[in-house]
Amino acid sequence: MSRLLIKNIKSLVQVREPSVLKVSGSEMKELPCLENAWLAVDNGLIADFGKMEDFPGIEDWKGLQIIDAEGKLLLPCYADSHTHIVYAGNREGEFVDRINGLSYEAIFARGGGILNSAMKLSESSEDELFEQSIVRLYEVIGQGTGSIEIKSGYGLSVESELKMLRVIKRIKELNLIPVKATFLGAHALPAAFKNNKRGYIDLIINEMLPRIASEKLADYIDVFCEQNYFTYDETKEILEAGKVHGLIPKVHAEQLSHFGGIKAGVECGAISVDHLEFCNDDDVTLLKNSDTMPTILPGAAFFLSLPLPPARKMIDAGLPIAFASDYNPGSSPSGNMNFMMSLGCVQYKLTPEEVINACTLNSAYAMQLSAEVGSITVGKRANFFITKPISSYGFIPYSFGSNLIESVFLNGVKQ
Ligand code: NIG
Ligand code: FE
Repeated sequence: MSRLLIKNIKSLVQVREPSVLKVSGSEMKELPCLENAWLAVDNGLIADFGKMEDFPGIEDWKGLQIIDAEGKLLLPCYADSHTHIVYAGNREGEFVDRINGLSYEAIFARGGGILNSAMKLSESSEDELFEQSIVRLYEVIGQGTGSIEIKSGYGLSVESELKMLRVIKRIKELNLIPVKATFLGAHALPAAFKNNKRGYIDLIINEMLPRIASEKLADYIDVFCEQNYFTYDETKEILEAGKVHGLIPKVHAEQLSHFGGIKAGVECGAISVDHLEFCNDDDVTLLKNSDTMPTILPGAAFFLSLPLPPARKMIDAGLPIAFASDYNPGSSPSGNMNFMMSLGCVQYKLTPEEVINACTLNSAYAMQLSAEVGSITVGKRANFFITKPISSYGFIPYSFGSNLIESVFLNGVKQ
């Protein structure tokens, strides 16, 4: 693998020691940078970096590729710890229905929403699904994403859930970026089990989970804990069943109402609880006494016009916060983490430092990848991007809707 030196970097952003795996509370306000810096890559990893004035020379670097980044910033790629990029078709029609006054809940009640995506997915072959999904993968890589979590949950039958997870496995095996797979069979009650919720939960626990575990198709187990979806007790039962098969819990929690998802997640040792629009003070206390990463999905709250999760309050209480895109056809048809940062600054009143920490190191923690990606650290994977010439990192969330990324490097290779 080639050796690469990037020199004259205007600002090398998010420089961390290997021991820092997440940042919490007031630590999120700090974003360590090196001005006028160089960065060296060897064998796909960050080999070293420093200030130009201390540059040690390059005598022993044979076959070295050199890039001049004058006037440009270098940031670690975004870690997107919550996506549903494996899906078939789109839900543009429901978007228009919502504009015309129908609620997300009403669309689900008439058999649309997640069930609409499940119908479309059941009619697509594994190859078709893979082709559609990798288009989205390349799209988000171009927008700066360098590690990703992908969920199932539009299958809702043994065969279709396995089909989704096999597509995620194929994406993982491309070895482009680190990929974590999440089994979300408990995303909604499928039409075939409309009057038999117990039957569907038994199917998840007794049939889906053992197959998924034996084919090693998932790292995590997730449940949509919400009114008309899965209760607190059901969430815990399903998460515990996943743990028996070695899967680590995550939860879709408190998105449309306060329904106990955070409590269920913390009690089951979840690595993250995500959404959090209806997170209350008791939840903040629960999270304070846990290692669970509270994860906000600003795209979904924006697209569905939901109340905003209390991000400011959570950070001020000393909690860490991660951001992820929730890229999916129903509630967030975008995986653009640059835009998630703009939403974080404008709507949630977080500083550029806080949103960059939320979208890199903390979101990498939310998928147990912060020892491998999420910061500029010697020994971490060389997944980073170079911006166009810009004034400072705050210009990225400031310029909402612009694409300020000039080039993306994965394992030190320019894409
Ligand atoms: O994260 N909240 C539940 N699941 C997804 C949306 C699913 C859909 O509408 O397709 C979410 O928002
Ligand atoms: Fe989601």
